[in-house]
Amino acid sequence: MLKEDLDQNNIPKHVAVIMDGNGRWAEKHGKQRLEGHAQGAKAARQAVETAHKLGIQYITLYAFSMENWNRPESEVSGLMSLLTSSIACQFKDLIENNVRLLTIGDNTLLPENVRQEIEAVVKESEKNTGLTVIIALSYSGRYEIVQATKNLLKKYAEKPFDISQIDEKTFAENLYTAQIPDPELLIRTSGEFRISNFLLWQISYSELYFTEKLWPDFSEEDFINAVYDYQHRERRFGKTSRQINEKK
Ligand code: IPE
Ligand code: IPE
Ligand code: MG
Repeated sequence: MLKEDLDQNNIPKHVAVIMDGNGRWAEKHGKQRLEGHAQGAKAARQAVETAHKLGIQYITLYAFSMENWNRPESEVSGLMSLLTSSIACQFKDLIENNVRLLTIGDNTLLPENVRQEIEAVVKESEKNTGLTVIIALSYSGRYEIVQATKNLLKKYAEKPFDISQIDEKTFAENLYTAQIPDPELLIRTSGEFRISNFLLWQISYSELYFTEKLWPDFSEEDFINAVYDYQHRERRFGKTSRQINEKK
């Protein structure tokens, strides 16, 4: 598929990606796992460029889960330095291209230098109005929901309010993603069919796309194929197919 094969009137606003398979890519090529991650960082950069080209407005990249802290120390520290170096060098020209960076996850667990590097780029790009790149870092969907509940309880303790005011909308305003629309499309690479604690609340009605491709091999064409597939789904939101087609 090519960009021209896509329906320009049905480009998802927000695409979320579980970038999985760096380790297996490395193994396949007889390399160290960290080389797989370095290659994965290049694929992430390319995915950002493709998102920009296709007119997607938000892309969320799952870079490091809360559970990933349990990996061997050497892999974790290697990933942390890769993160700082790639954010520092990749975002210079992305910022010039009007890209805005946001992160979601528990920043307090990150090493100080990583946090500072990221915060600087987030600040520097905050006024940009082009593509928003959201990096999920030290992220857990369940943790995010628990934090949102705590936020609400804290607000209640400071100034009690009518509990019946809490609905899906007000709850979602307390998530990391308060200002971000839900993803229409979620892509996971490497042939694993699971969510791994990613955006549990936000993907309730996302279209899921799984591919066998390992993340470092995920190309522009693969991205376009995923969007093409998405455009040929029928999103019913609980209604019948007939109801959806009558509206057209
Ligand atoms: C995804 O690749 C990157 C991170 C989780 C940081 P993996 O490192 O999980 O690769 P596999 O699953 O071992 O192949
Ligand atoms: C999910 O990948 C997290 C990221 C892609 C950053 P994992 O490789 O950690 O997922 P599981 O543990 O195999 O489900
Ligand atoms: Mg994995």
